[in-house]
Amino acid sequence: MLWLLFLTLPGLGSSVPVTPGPGPGRELVGIVGGCDVSARRYPWQVSLRFYNSKRRQWVHQCGGSLIHPQWVLTAAHCMEPENMTPSKAGVQVGQLRLYDHRKLTMVKQVIRHPKFNSSQGAKGGADIALLRLEAPVTLSADVNLVLLPPASLRVPERKMCWVTGWGNINYKSPLPPPYHLQEVEVPIVGKEVCNQRYQKVEKNPRPIKEDMLCAGSEGRDSCQGDSGGPLVCSWNCTWVQVGVVSWGHQCGLRDFPGVYARVTSYMSWISQHVRLSPGS
Ligand SMILES: *[C@@H]1O[C@H](CO)[C@@H](O)[C@H](O)[C@H]1NC(C)=O
Ligand SMILES: *[C@@H]1O[C@H](CO)[C@@H](O)[C@H](O)[C@H]1NC(C)=O
Repeated sequence: MLWLLFLTLPGLGSSVPVTPGPGPGRELVGIVGGCDVSARRYPWQVSLRFYNSKRRQWVHQCGGSLIHPQWVLTAAHCMEPENMTPSKAGVQVGQLRLYDHRKLTMVKQVIRHPKFNSSQGAKGGADIALLRLEAPVTLSADVNLVLLPPASLRVPERKMCWVTGWGNINYKSPLPPPYHLQEVEVPIVGKEVCNQRYQKVEKNPRPIKEDMLCAGSEGRDSCQGDSGGPLVCSWNCTWVQVGVVSWGHQCGLRDFPGVYARVTSYMSWISQHVRLSPGS
């Protein structure tokens, strides 16, 4: 996974800041800086699992979101290698604690965006993929769809949005048992600011591409294992998924917001494959 490759590069320097909780009385138990999710707040969140033959277990690798009863949106870098057998992947829906009970829905087809370039990874852009499930899942109070935005939606700078996942709670610190889904509120960071920040650590002078979106602040971020998961914002009292967790420089650092695939850039591609219900 990209986060893994990236986070294990030696000598990247600076240590993770030990910040106090982001608000009064909030513990730093994050996704980075997050809190346990109360039931049913994110019924579209799925855990993407791959079979690990050594552990003889379907292990959580990435997040994803349910956009149709039979389709999951995730990151392309979660679905490597390109020719992977879909039957090696499954998704768990409707679960707050990883491995609470196991009822995997198997993946029947993987559609990575054709512009995703494996050798460049998430930083090359088009880090988005669709997974067709072998059968539609049954919707309930715990399992439901997330709304996708109109392609024309502009996500304003500084808007507060939420990212969720079972990924690391800090750079190199995995989420401890009982592996409760984490949520954290993150501000949208403008592309210019985000480019300026990432120029310092990337060779590319414009590392943030048109199809990327930045969000996060010191101590509030997504991290390794959250990849593919949803970034949602509220408009008119409705949650809309605007981002897919993609990459970043470590986690929760002040100068390095998380980078997300921008969902509005891919609405026409998504609707070529998935018949979204009216209103989505
Ligand atoms: C993928 O990226 C590599 C490295 O930047 C480049 O050499 C290659 O041409 C790219 N492949 C495609 C299909 O664009
Ligand atoms: C919210 O509602 C307003 C007024 O009805 C509408 O113009 C706007 O497009 C809506 N925003 C979204 C993101 O749906």
